[in-house]
Amino acid sequence: MAALHDKFGRAITDLRISITDRCNYKCVYCRTGNEGALYGDLPFEDYLRMARVLVGMGITKVRLTGGEPLLRKGVVEFVGELAKLRRPNGSGGEALDIALTTNGHMLAEMAQPLKDAGLSRVTVSMDAVDPDRFARITRVPNGYDHVLAGIRAARRAGLWPLKVNCVLMRGFNEDQIIPFGMFAREEGVTVRFIEFMPLEEGRTWAPSTVVTLDEILARMAEYRPLVEIPHARSETARRYRFEDGVGEIGIIAPVSHPFCGHCSRIRITSDGKIRTCLFSVWDHDLHAQMRRGATDDELAEFIHGVVQKKEERHHIGEADFVPASRTMVHIGG
Ligand code: GTP
Ligand code: 5AD
Repeated sequence: MAALHDKFGRAITDLRISITDRCNYKCVYCRTGNEGALYGDLPFEDYLRMARVLVGMGITKVRLTGGEPLLRKGVVEFVGELAKLRRPNGSGGEALDIALTTNGHMLAEMAQPLKDAGLSRVTVSMDAVDPDRFARITRVPNGYDHVLAGIRAARRAGLWPLKVNCVLMRGFNEDQIIPFGMFAREEGVTVRFIEFMPLEEGRTWAPSTVVTLDEILARMAEYRPLVEIPHARSETARRYRFEDGVGEIGIIAPVSHPFCGHCSRIRITSDGKIRTCLFSVWDHDLHAQMRRGATDDELAEFIHGVVQKKEERHHIGEADFVPASRTMVHIGG
């Protein structure tokens, strides 16, 4: 089957699989503070089959997300199975790039086993470099030390490049920009600031809550000069290094500088639905196809049809914006 392209000619090469919609954090920009997982999850063998079919269709990168993916027992073994998948011969028969996005709370103990199983790299979400502020944002006491230990353990284990994601929300952490610049330099990690998107459970988003790319750059320039460096077309982040060569930051600006035109992503939710965009107002039930006994070829055909429906772009901040049918914790970042 030909490589996966949507009707706008975008190659779909990145797969994100959410393996649970449970999360042990209640970050203010994501959760309302409720406990529950709404949609549940599937046996790992089902995600593995979906991944295998998609890799056969041209996927080269797989990112595991949640909820919080490290809450799921068996995740290390699942990474081990993913690492055995090979891209088809046409693309070199190479191994996949396997990444994972985590809140880092349980990473200190799991970093080395994950690396040994075949994980390439991790992205850790961290929205303040001050323990009290961190607790206020995550609504979890004493999380900061766990996450910092997790980041350091991941570095030691060689999960590299190591990225730290910081969602900026006005009134909560916009004063953390310069401290995070220092953190990037001291810890040798790439800190990526993310503009807050309307994907939260609490419906608190408003244009005024977004700390924009321009504002982040202006604030960081008060600390040290930055130099922009090239980024891959499908990459979410614009990249910058400090002028003295020490430390890198990134800015993910889906609100002020949308990057939909080069989107290469497709998502599978923890309950086995395909989402073609974070802001989709519907999803497509891949797992139902499996339950009714579809062959791998039939699954591939289904996926091909779904990809043709991938949205051209999101409509954040526009008069015709319709909220996504799921919030971030139930999609997977
Ligand atoms: P790598 O380049 O492989 O490291 O992956 P990535 O940059 O996609 O990593 P990550 O999972 O850390 O994504 C970073 C953040 O970018 C997510 O948490 C989202 O906030 C945002 N993001 C990712 N994909 C999309 C997308 O398709 N649309 C929009 N609007 N935002 C996205
Ligand atoms: N806007 C932007 N980023 C978000 N994330 C979660 N909710 C939002 C939102 N509303 C980020 C998390 C994590 C990743 C999975 O998505 O911080 O890094």
